Amino acid sequence: MAKIMLYLPLLPSLLFTRISASYVHSMESSTSKCSNISIPYPFGIVGGNPAPAQGFEITCSLSDSSPMVRINNGMFAILNFSLLDGFVSILASATSQQCKRNSSFSLEGTNFTFSDTRNKFTAVGCDMIAMLLNGSSGYNGGCASFCSTKTNIIDGVCSGVACCQAPVPKGLKKLELEFTNITGHLSRPNKVNNNPTCAEAFIAEQNYYVFSSVDLNNTNRTNPQYRHVVLEWSIDGGYCEEAKRSASYACKENSYCYNSSNGIGYRCNCTFGFQGNPYLQGPGGCQDINECVIKSPCTHKCTNTEGSFSCMCPAGMTGDGLKEGSGCNGIGTLLIKIVTGLALLLLLLILIFWTHWLVKKRKLVKKRQRYFMQNGGMLLKQKMFSQSAPLRIFTSSELDRATNSFNDDNIIGRGGFGIVYKGILCDQMVVAIKKAQRVDQNRMEQFINELVILSQVNHKNVVQLLGCCLETELPLLVYEFITNGTLFHHLHSTSIPISWEDRLRIAVETASALAYLHLATKEPIIHRDVKSSNILLDENFTAKVSDFGASRHIPHNQTHVTTLVQGTLGYMDPEYFQTSQLTERSDVYSFGVVLIELLARQKPISDGKTDDVRNLACHFSMLFYQNQLLEIVDSQVAEEAGTKHVKTVAQLALRCLRSIGEERPRMIEVAIELEALRRLMKQHSILQTEEDPMLCEPNHHADMNIQASSSLSLDNITKEESMDTILLPFRDLSC
Ligand SMILES: *[C@@H]1O[C@H](CO)[C@@H](O)[C@H](O)[C@H]1NC(C)=O
Ligand SMILES: *[C@@H]1O[C@H](CO)[C@@H](O)[C@H](O)[C@H]1NC(C)=O
Ligand SMILES: *[C@@H]1O[C@H](CO)[C@@H](O)[C@H](O)[C@H]1NC(C)=O
Ligand SMILES: *[C@@H]1O[C@H](CO)[C@@H](O)[C@H](O)[C@H]1NC(C)=O
Ligand SMILES: *[C@@H]1O[C@H](CO)[C@@H](O)[C@H](O)[C@H]1NC(C)=O
Ligand SMILES: *[C@@H]1O[C@H](CO)[C@@H](O)[C@H](O)[C@H]1NC(C)=O
Ligand SMILES: *[C@@H]1O[C@H](CO)[C@@H](O)[C@H](O)[C@H]1NC(C)=O
Ligand SMILES: *[C@@H]1O[C@H](CO)[C@@H](O)[C@H](O)[C@H]1NC(C)=O
Ligand SMILES: *[C@@H]1O[C@H](CO)[C@@H](O)[C@H](O)[C@H]1NC(C)=O
Ligand SMILES: *[C@@H]1O[C@H](CO)[C@@H](O)[C@H](O)[C@H]1NC(C)=O
Repeated sequence: MAKIMLYLPLLPSLLFTRISASYVHSMESSTSKCSNISIPYPFGIVGGNPAPAQGFEITCSLSDSSPMVRINNGMFAILNFSLLDGFVSILASATSQQCKRNSSFSLEGTNFTFSDTRNKFTAVGCDMIAMLLNGSSGYNGGCASFCSTKTNIIDGVCSGVACCQAPVPKGLKKLELEFTNITGHLSRPNKVNNNPTCAEAFIAEQNYYVFSSVDLNNTNRTNPQYRHVVLEWSIDGGYCEEAKRSASYACKENSYCYNSSNGIGYRCNCTFGFQGNPYLQGPGGCQDINECVIKSPCTHKCTNTEGSFSCMCPAGMTGDGLKEGSGCNGIGTLLIKIVTGLALLLLLLILIFWTHWLVKKRKLVKKRQRYFMQNGGMLLKQKMFSQSAPLRIFTSSELDRATNSFNDDNIIGRGGFGIVYKGILCDQMVVAIKKAQRVDQNRMEQFINELVILSQVNHKNVVQLLGCCLETELPLLVYEFITNGTLFHHLHSTSIPISWEDRLRIAVETASALAYLHLATKEPIIHRDVKSSNILLDENFTAKVSDFGASRHIPHNQTHVTTLVQGTLGYMDPEYFQTSQLTERSDVYSFGVVLIELLARQKPISDGKTDDVRNLACHFSMLFYQNQLLEIVDSQVAEEAGTKHVKTVAQLALRCLRSIGEERPRMIEVAIELEALRRLMKQHSILQTEEDPMLCEPNHHADMNIQASSSLSLDNITKEESMDTILLPFRDLSC
């Protein structure tokens, strides 16, 4: 670690020197130019850097437009260098004329030969053979040309008539020619020019020379004709194997040697994947080609390596990764596409559900607000503020949680008024929640007033209204939860009857609660549906009057209200039924029926009996006046209370049942009388059965409490009983 840190500061300067050095080098070596032709090593300008190899010296003077090379005392302009192929194009007159018998062009002693592939040997003349001499040993090439008629001589065609061509033999270094006159040896003699002409032969770049018949007359020209000639150069030093052992081996790093095809000597080329000048060392020499940068040969990822490159396929795919190969194949991309596609889809779905949920929630909130307004929520708030009503406004979600979304398992009763649910609030308080009836818009204010008044009712024998919720279509009323079921249930549906003492107490409590409703509240409240199933019992068997659903208060200036007749058959005031005029005395009548129910322990309407005994009130009064009271009174009551006492209570009950309402006692009077009777009886029983403490203990019903699970309710109401609440012809009238 420390070592690296130590070297790090040196790095930039090292890089710098290296770069600048290479710059200078490349400036001096690779880009040495003459005119606009760059001169590659081993060629070089005399005195330049790097110095040219021996035999490859170039002179470059300002006066000449081209670099010049010296060949056997002659200076020739260089048109072109080809480093890797080993060619150099020069402008020269490699010509021999039949009539001059002299001129020759020699490359002997130089590092050049005539290129056999890029040049052509051409002869122009009539009826002659032009032969290339290989020293003194013999011929090594040549061609023959004939001229019979003029019409056969065609410009641009050099195929043996006036002009012939032959390939240049390999390794030719000298142009030495022998012309042979074949006039007279031909069956069709020359008719073009009877005077013999001088033939001319030369070596020039392939396709450079185009035959023209004019040239037939110019073969004895004096001025030399310069043409493009391609020379091949090679490094002296034998074949590659030999040269490699030599100290002067010319091929530098990342290069290889190959034999010159055209004579002794060798040349160099960069190995595959490198480019540059194989005769140079360093930056100008063979350098790695970054294949990936130039034009990536890979379909996917390309990595350049020294002298090569490698293609890589993405994960999950196979193949060579080459564009010109098998490429990259496999399920990789498909899989990735599917996965990303699925992910996108999922995201979209989540988004859709989320917005859907949001919209739904907004709608719900709006709906709740609408219901709240419809149900008079604002009015209630206003009233609560002005009248300081101790009413709690619940949210619908609060009650939703409390009743487990109004689950059917939470239903504790169904009545004419609505369904009653048991609910447990957040603070573990148990409540009874009643779904009220739809609020008629015309009655909305009345409904709210009623709520406010009911909330102000505070009596120990009245089921307390705790609050309400107006955010639902049907307003929800929240009452305290009474544990022990209805009086109806305890009278008619259990095997263990309540003692008379308790029954009397319940009667007193009920009467006082009703009296309270009639008198103590701001505006009188008429219960309107007083019956044993609306009297609930708590764990101490204390009566709690419930179900104000049908309750109506009477405004101050009126003594009665005209309403749609409502009530329960058997308990209903016949006067109210006839006139539809509701007064406090209707409650008194209904209470009278309850009182008789307590005495007789019979349902107000019994099934399967004849008409005159079917209605309890009628039957009771009939028997009372026939002095056969004990026939109908519960034997237990008669035993516990005594005939006299029973008769007094019965008289009170019958007073309550008088057909003219005005003649009935007021509720408060009933309460007081009953209370007095109760005290009397208590004293009497204490005197009578001092040794029996059981009578004073209402708690002997404790074992019964468990089975009573409901409260406000009408849970034990059978179908027929619910039917009773529906209006039927009132049979009470017959009595
Ligand atoms: C060099 O310049 C001449 C004219 O000045 C032009 O004809 C020739 O094509 C150029 N050669 C190169 C290799 O640029
Ligand atoms: C230079 O050489 C190439 C082939 O090596 C050739 O095609 C081209 O014509 C030459 N240019 C000149 C100006 O001679
Ligand atoms: C021909 O060759 C002779 C010697 O071989 C030489 O003296 C003479 O100058 C040459 N003539 C021409 C025109 O080159
Ligand atoms: C030319 O002659 C030499 C021997 O003098 C021989 O080795 C060479 O192959 C000959 N060249 C041709 C093209 O015939
Ligand atoms: C070729 O030979 C013919 C007859 O043999 C002669 O007339 C003619 O002049 C000769 N041509 C030359 C160029 O020597
Ligand atoms: C060549 O010269 C001869 C006479 O010397 C003449 O008749 C002929 O037309 C010339 N040919 C051409 C193609 O100029
Ligand atoms: C060719 O030209 C030379 C002079 O350059 C002359 O001496 C000779 O006679 C000419 N030959 C013919 C056949 O015209
Ligand atoms: C060029 O040829 C000469 C003479 O044969 C030789 O001395 C020299 O080494 C050659 N140059 C190279 C670079 O081979
Ligand atoms: C060069 O030529 C020699 C002789 O023909 C031969 O033995 C050798 O294998 C050749 N080398 C290369 C690299 O072609
Ligand atoms: C030199 O090498 C390159 C690439 O390696 C190749 O294309 C070229 O044909 C080679 N030249 C010769 C003359 O072998």
